[in-house]
Amino acid sequence: MRSTSTSSRSSTVTTSAAGALSRPFSLGRLTLPNRITMSPMTRSFSPGGIPGEDVAAYYARRAAAGVGLIITEGTYVNHPSAGEDAAVPRFYGAESLAGWARVADAVHAVGGHIVPQLWHIGMFRDPDVTPFEDVPAVGPSGLTLTGTDDGGRAMTRADIDEVIGAYAQAAADAERIGFDGVEIHGAHGYLIDQFLWSYTNRRTDEYGGDSVARTRFAAEIVEAIRERVSQDFPVIFRFSQWKGYDFDARLADTPDELQAVLAPIADAGVSAFHASTRRYWEPEFEGSDLNLAAWAKKLTGKAAITVGSVGLDGDITEDSAEPAGLERLAEALERDEFDLVAVGRALLADPQWARKVLDGRVEGFAPFTKEAEKTLF
Ligand SMILES: Cc1cc2nc3c(=O)[nH]c(=O)nc-3n(C[C@H](O)[C@H](O)[C@H](O)COP(=O)(O)O)c2cc1C
Repeated sequence: MRSTSTSSRSSTVTTSAAGALSRPFSLGRLTLPNRITMSPMTRSFSPGGIPGEDVAAYYARRAAAGVGLIITEGTYVNHPSAGEDAAVPRFYGAESLAGWARVADAVHAVGGHIVPQLWHIGMFRDPDVTPFEDVPAVGPSGLTLTGTDDGGRAMTRADIDEVIGAYAQAAADAERIGFDGVEIHGAHGYLIDQFLWSYTNRRTDEYGGDSVARTRFAAEIVEAIRERVSQDFPVIFRFSQWKGYDFDARLADTPDELQAVLAPIADAGVSAFHASTRRYWEPEFEGSDLNLAAWAKKLTGKAAITVGSVGLDGDITEDSAEPAGLERLAEALERDEFDLVAVGRALLADPQWARKVLDGRVEGFAPFTKEAEKTLF
């Protein structure tokens, strides 16, 4: 880990990727003005689960500065065990939804587009946090990501139906209050990923078994959402190989295995896959330079979003990272290996990041530090 202190708030990148990132892109009913997407980042700035004016202004600042599509921080669906952090925004209840409507309005007022990331943490609970709902954690087999049970329990069929219904309701509410689509959080070892991963899914019913059977929960969520929203309403599915406690975990070791996981979810009706990796330039499988997003696009024919250390020289495990060039990104984008580029920490640290990149600037980017996570600037 590097030190949290940085010598300057402004650094130089080596080239402009403005051309590759400036091209418009169609996603369902949306025409996005460029390829820059804000990656979902939990900020815990919504006391009582209600996003306020500061949250609206935080997203609107980035939309006004050129981000083509904002994916919000993870926001809990309406299920008692969906989350634990009382300052994470919820996507249910009149006050939270009114807050979210103001966020969407603020982003639209400056010409932006925004989708909420719908989240259920499942068995992924922080032992140091007291959940705001006093209910046991649930997951496919009641196992945490380290294989313990920690008082959790395996989901019953009724639990599964409730959670699927909660995702569908959240998506319907998202469309009703003016959002431009939704992203389903199927990554990083949270509930949906706990079903996808053999280590946490030991079920012997139709929701467990081989990798195709383990996709049933995710696919049913997508299908239930599709039944409740307009046909052209974008539904993005985020997935990852890595888990919160295990960066080496994998859902798939080969393209064929990845196809087995993604095909049923694609067929259920997603508009795009968001392949979460820590470093976008890393090839996913031996024998090819394609990264995980590129493979998702190639195998499913769906649009794909890449992510991971865009514009920074250190990955998400680092305490700080300096600005970095975008040459490799621009080349892969020009080849249409993937369609959109999600930017996390660089945008968290610098609300003007997209404008600077789109203007072809090569200097004046803020570095990322852990300190930046403490403020919604
Ligand atoms: C503070 C912080 C909060 C995050 N919260 C979420 C989240 O709510 N949902 C999610 O899917 N990923 C989350 N991530 C991961 C980011 O979306 C992104 O994938 C990761 O930071 C790598 O992109 P980057 O290198 O551009 O930062 C978070 C990352 C950070 C730094």
